[in-house]
Amino acid sequence: MTSLRRAYAARRFTEAYEQAMDARYAVTRNQADKPLDTQALAKAAEGSEILFCCLTEKITAELIAHLSPTLKVIANLSVGVEHIDLEAARRFGVHVLNTPDVLSEATAEVAMMLILNACRRAYESDHLVRSGQWTGWTPTQMLGLGLTGRRLGILGLGRIGQHVARRAAPFGLEIHYHNRRQLPAETEAGATYHTTSDSLLRHSDIFCIAAPSTPELKGFLDARRIGLLPKDAVVVNVARGDMVDDEALIDGLKSGKLFAAGLDVYRGEPNLDPRYRALPNAFLASHIGSATVDTRDAMGFLLLDGLKALEEGRRPHNLVV
Ligand code: GLV
Repeated sequence: MTSLRRAYAARRFTEAYEQAMDARYAVTRNQADKPLDTQALAKAAEGSEILFCCLTEKITAELIAHLSPTLKVIANLSVGVEHIDLEAARRFGVHVLNTPDVLSEATAEVAMMLILNACRRAYESDHLVRSGQWTGWTPTQMLGLGLTGRRLGILGLGRIGQHVARRAAPFGLEIHYHNRRQLPAETEAGATYHTTSDSLLRHSDIFCIAAPSTPELKGFLDARRIGLLPKDAVVVNVARGDMVDDEALIDGLKSGKLFAAGLDVYRGEPNLDPRYRALPNAFLASHIGSATVDTRDAMGFLLLDGLKALEEGRRPHNLVV
């Protein structure tokens, strides 16, 4: 009998994914499920050929060097891979797998949740009821922004952005977008292309960030760009927190330039800028874009499929490096 390949699972995953993982590999796991810093991870994962991880682990060049040459594959449970030093992985011949596509619909649902909750003041309304301060219906109470006829600007009409557009259009939103390149007409599906992000910002009553966090997009939504948005715009982010300049967004939300924000991701999460917590016009979710059992299972199975492909000498479609 050949012995199973050794693997380390840096977090606890869904039951079905863990069972499937255990059936195929000799897995040691981080039972406590507390995020491990690079040093602790280096020690725990020593001797493993496969590292099952996610966006809470910073996979540095030092870590890859330490686990090399035993480490062969990093199977990362997220589509975003900015927490992994891809260059180092390439250098050490370590493959990196991620989880595109299977989480796009779940994440688009959360984008819709944020849009609706931010525009219709869901947090304030919920708080009014729970706090016992609600004195009853009035014609002028909790007036929000309706979606019908407003313009939704999507930065990054990719896999997730396209699902957002598909869900937003039936709400009466007019879809605008900016990508590096214009999409073919059948993919655009009637959305209006803007050749520059500045132009998109000027035409966005609701501005939704759905692009991957590349080095060029770090701090993208800064004070100048917020200044380009129409008065009373709403900002939504389902991508990564580091694409937003928190100082500028908080200023915009406080000054009344922006009507509201709906955020699922934060710079330095879970230690977000504490000022967000005090803003009634910020609807805050806890990075739940892909958080459904079905989606998390599908993400796990996609990684296992990718590993199988590599073992059989095929190139998996979710191979990043
Ligand atoms: C989640 O945020 C992901 O990148 O998959």
